[in-house]
Amino acid sequence: CGIVGYIGTQQAAPLLLEGLTRLEHRGYDSAGVAVLGGSGVRVAKKAGRVRDLTEGLPKRFTGQVGIGHTRWATHGPANDANAHPHTDEAQRVAVVHNGIIDNAAALRQQLSDDGVELTSDTDTEVLAHLVARSGADTLEGKVRDALAAIEGTYGVAVLHADFPDRIVVARNGSPLIIGVGEKEMHVASDLAALVRYTTTVAHLDDGELATLTAGGFTTYRQDLSTTHKLAEQVDVDPASYDAGEHDSFMHKEMQEQPAAADRVLRGRLDERFGTARLGGLNMDARETRAIRRVKILGCGSAYYVGQMGAALIEELARIPADAEAASEFRYRNPIIEPDTLYVAVSQSGETLDTLLAVQEIRRKGGRVIGLVNVVGSAIARECDGGIYLHAGPEVAVASTKALTNMFIGFSLLALQLGRVRDLSIADGKRLIAGLTRLPDQIQAILDREDELAEVARTLAGAESLFFVGRVRGFPVAREGAQKFKEISYRHAEAYQTSELKHGPLALISEAVPTVALVPSDELTDRNVGALHEIAARRGPLVVITHEDVDLGDVAALRIDVPRNERELDPILLTVPLQLLAYHAALHLGHDIDKPRNLAKSVTVE
Ligand code: G6P
Repeated sequence: CGIVGYIGTQQAAPLLLEGLTRLEHRGYDSAGVAVLGGSGVRVAKKAGRVRDLTEGLPKRFTGQVGIGHTRWATHGPANDANAHPHTDEAQRVAVVHNGIIDNAAALRQQLSDDGVELTSDTDTEVLAHLVARSGADTLEGKVRDALAAIEGTYGVAVLHADFPDRIVVARNGSPLIIGVGEKEMHVASDLAALVRYTTTVAHLDDGELATLTAGGFTTYRQDLSTTHKLAEQVDVDPASYDAGEHDSFMHKEMQEQPAAADRVLRGRLDERFGTARLGGLNMDARETRAIRRVKILGCGSAYYVGQMGAALIEELARIPADAEAASEFRYRNPIIEPDTLYVAVSQSGETLDTLLAVQEIRRKGGRVIGLVNVVGSAIARECDGGIYLHAGPEVAVASTKALTNMFIGFSLLALQLGRVRDLSIADGKRLIAGLTRLPDQIQAILDREDELAEVARTLAGAESLFFVGRVRGFPVAREGAQKFKEISYRHAEAYQTSELKHGPLALISEAVPTVALVPSDELTDRNVGALHEIAARRGPLVVITHEDVDLGDVAALRIDVPRNERELDPILLTVPLQLLAYHAALHLGHDIDKPRNLAKSVTVE
């Protein structure tokens, strides 16, 4: 979900709506705004997109103070009543909230026992009633009282008709950033909503509250003692938050991959010693050598690239490594070992499942590093060290350039871990040369977009598909299937090519195509053998492969990608799968950047 707020001398509503449009990737099943004008609090909210809200906005929706929200449903379906802002019965208070209130059911019961009429199914509505019912004589005190009664996570912004000169905001587990303007203040859950107005910002910490007035802001703790936070200048180019000439952010972000790959490598390659220079890990050679195991945690695409990373680390550093879904990890009471290096991987740095896994590890004394894109995000701050991905802002739900940079980040980590062990300087140099070739090779794949678009159209017609690969290629297949289902809404299942014959071959038919990853490596012959088994069942085939691979007489649509070092090939096999998913979704007429039911950053468990 996304939050925006404004207080100043301009009309709030247009600014809030503009901000919400920029946050839509965070949730887009409903949206709403509240403004405080001469006639008190006015609210407009609606199921659907921000543009539906904008079109239906009442005339003279005026006021120079306001808050807004875009929602990704957790409690209650996406309908007008459940959209934020939520208000109290007297319509004096309006609240927007990200996160989950765990004791909402009990609080709702108490409120209705007290005769309060609840008008939504949400957990957030209780906050509005609690603020309204507090006996404190300041808005800060009222918000503090309300927050004291709730358990859970939140980023909140509160308006109150009795205190028209301020917005009070608070954070616990869900990001909030204050933006400082000329005689005006903004607040948002994401920099994307602020950068057009200001790049002077202050990040709230967990447990912190703030009061915004047109003239400035103050921050304080729950006991209302001040925290003296100052705003800082952030170095971002507002244009990087625009899709520009592209029809979608996903398209723009795919095309940005060569430049993004260059950035993550810059200054981090030590050619003389054939290793990586990763100062941010905060580990010396002795500590690096003491690592006996690597455990990678992430969600969604970050989890799949984590599997690619684990394979790289095992191959290059010969350290046992594996990846696990962060969302599952802490619920199986994991054993945290002092000589294991834990790696959290996340584009946003906010995914709550990943953040909670990091906190669990640290609570048990483990060392965690982050591979994170968003600088200063919660996961980045929580880790003992890390590698920033420098992919630039990623807006589309389907991750592309951040994922590529995660892979490169893992390559650098594997190189550094390997070179304090048995990886030779020659191998180190070989990999550095390979990494340096990647940006141009990625570009070469992107340049063949038309050809891939044609293949994608043939796949778009299928109700169900397989994506198959082996060993290094299997996480690539998982990521390819994920992308395809996320945005094309076709059922896509990833399988180890070797396992097809143990079950899923039963499903292969003319109607069920397979996208197979067949790199030129030690498994090529076996992979080609499996293609024969699919072809014999008349399964249509798309094969992502290398030029020197001989597919024999197998009938297949063939896509050759440039070869790199074997260890680095997975990322070059991944890029065409992005384009296949993108063009299938485009062909089917779907909203590429905002696939149904999904959100870019999931800040709930
Ligand atoms: C959500 C998104 C996925 C993403 C995952 C992890 O589920 O829909 O596209 O891969 O979160 O996000 P992160 O920001 O932690 O990389």
